[in-house]
Amino acid sequence: MTETLVVLTRTIPRAGRDILEADGCRIEVVQPDAERAVDHAAILDAVARADVLLCLLTERIDAAVLNAGVRLRGVANMAVGYNNIDISAASAMGIPVSNTPGVLTDTTADLTWALLLGIARRIVEADQYMRDGKFRLWGPELMMGADVGPGADGRQKTLGIIGYGRIGRAVARRAAGFDMRVIAFSPGHVGVADDGTAFVALDELLEQSDFVSIHAPSSPATRALIGAPQLARMKRTAYIINVARGDIIDEVALVHALRNDIIAGAALDVFEHEPAMADGLAACTNALIVPHIGSASFDTRNRMAAIAATNALAHLHRSHAPDVVNPDVYQATAYSARMDRLA
Ligand code: DGY
Repeated sequence: MTETLVVLTRTIPRAGRDILEADGCRIEVVQPDAERAVDHAAILDAVARADVLLCLLTERIDAAVLNAGVRLRGVANMAVGYNNIDISAASAMGIPVSNTPGVLTDTTADLTWALLLGIARRIVEADQYMRDGKFRLWGPELMMGADVGPGADGRQKTLGIIGYGRIGRAVARRAAGFDMRVIAFSPGHVGVADDGTAFVALDELLEQSDFVSIHAPSSPATRALIGAPQLARMKRTAYIINVARGDIIDEVALVHALRNDIIAGAALDVFEHEPAMADGLAACTNALIVPHIGSASFDTRNRMAAIAATNALAHLHRSHAPDVVNPDVYQATAYSARMDRLA
């Protein structure tokens, strides 16, 4: 029997590699250096040998890669978002694609709150102030920020959530602890969600919110959803938080809004042209910026790797992958033709 090969574009946490190794398949890592991006050409070369491709959100798995994967039985993405993969091309070629949903919901919601509190209460700035040896005397106006809870004037704050899926809802649940009013914008949703959150139009959400938090997937419909006109609709005292995908915010427009006090601040885990940032963003003191760490807890990243590996093995053994994102593929003739050819 020929040994099967799972190609990993980059290394994944131990828990995932253990699952693959226990199954006896061979593993090839295209870019073993965790600090370096993978060349598209190197993926094209390696995928030609792969029975399954296990990739990260940093790799563009386009039609050319899928086409080069002549032996491919499936693609397992170690991320919940899969905008890095051309799903329609994969479906047309009969290739199932899977992701890692659910496991990172709470971890990402926690980071959202860390960012929200961090930008409102200027935590990173204050930390830097200490490290720079600037703290000589407590002062009544030192490092004043914004209230998240009702605060001294008792005014309840509004949290506006864009994208009301698993993560958006988990963020909303945490808002109860801050006695916030929560509203949401999610295309196709009107009325009130089962948890009491009211669905509103995007403009209404932008105008009413003290904190706007983005939890939508990247898609042609959400690309640059927040640009200059939307930022101008926000309160001058409001903050925007993005832990979803960078291209949902027009980053050049955001830098302009931050520099000109059109909004109070932004906290970003993701960037439009990741890992690059728009010119001027790093110099904005009213921005809190972290390197796409929404799901980065030891437990969650290991479990994401384990889920991706479990899906990869399902692809390898031609069984229904638990987290397939294009399930219709299993009924498609392109799939049966591909599996027959690879039998
Ligand atoms: C995802 O999974 O899509 C996150 O962006 C990274 O964990």
